[in-house]
Amino acid sequence: MKNLNKELYTKELLDDWVRREEIIHAEAYLINKYLTLKTGSVIEAGTGGGRIAFYIEQIGFNQIDAFDYVPQMIEYAEKNKIEKQSQVKFKVADATNLSEYGDNAFDYLIYLQQVLCFIEDEDQFHNALKEAYRIARKESISIFSFLDYNSRSLNIPLRMVLRVLRWIRKEPISDKYLPWLKINTSFNRKILSKNQALTYWVKRDDIIRELESIGFKVLEVKNASEINSDSKLRKGMLYIVCTKQ
Ligand SMILES: C[S@@+](CC[C@H](N)C(=O)[O-])C[C@H]1O[C@@H](n2cnc3c(N)ncnc32)[C@H](O)[C@@H]1O
Repeated sequence: MKNLNKELYTKELLDDWVRREEIIHAEAYLINKYLTLKTGSVIEAGTGGGRIAFYIEQIGFNQIDAFDYVPQMIEYAEKNKIEKQSQVKFKVADATNLSEYGDNAFDYLIYLQQVLCFIEDEDQFHNALKEAYRIARKESISIFSFLDYNSRSLNIPLRMVLRVLRWIRKEPISDKYLPWLKINTSFNRKILSKNQALTYWVKRDDIIRELESIGFKVLEVKNASEINSDSKLRKGMLYIVCTKQ
């Protein structure tokens, strides 16, 4: 499997993500609404420098695991852990294969910041959802965020241009995979080039059906502007909260 997003997170995006500390409104809303039993065990996927895991510890949880597939992110998280005198258990692991973690191990699963949308293969995306289901305990809560295909009007013209280019280049890539518009704050000047990192944009009904087919029961679905009720905010994220029946 190609791993161009992993390269991006190892190089261009590393500094930006390890430096972040603030929790955004939608994250605080979901975590505080659903993580109610402070004695529960929590796992955070794609932790970066540990920003969200440390926040969860700060609100009173003391059994927290967190993983990221970029070793440099975990090195930074470990440094941060010492400074914060934290007990979070960080590991290098890939969301598509969580053999490091046992079945039915966690009460709360946090898959925020669209972590699964950086998987560059649809079958592996599906595997990662199945892995989340496997490590979740019965009646656990899983909070996911995804890139919401229908929230960005530019996706339609972009898809049309890419369809033609991919047809000419004989690239069998799903329309749901789109290039990054910006990398950090700069416009992605290679947006139409061939070999580049792609992100996976889900459609609301499709992803709900997929989660349900794995065994999750969907409890809440909201995009960012529904949570913030501020039309100026980016709508791009689709938040889905599930339980394991
Ligand atoms: C947008 S950043 C968010 C970082 C952190 N959760 C935060 O909010 O500050 C996404 C993170 O997910 C990690 N990531 C992406 N795909 C992953 C995968 N398949 N398995 C584990 N980590 C992944 C990246 O390395 C990156 O650190």
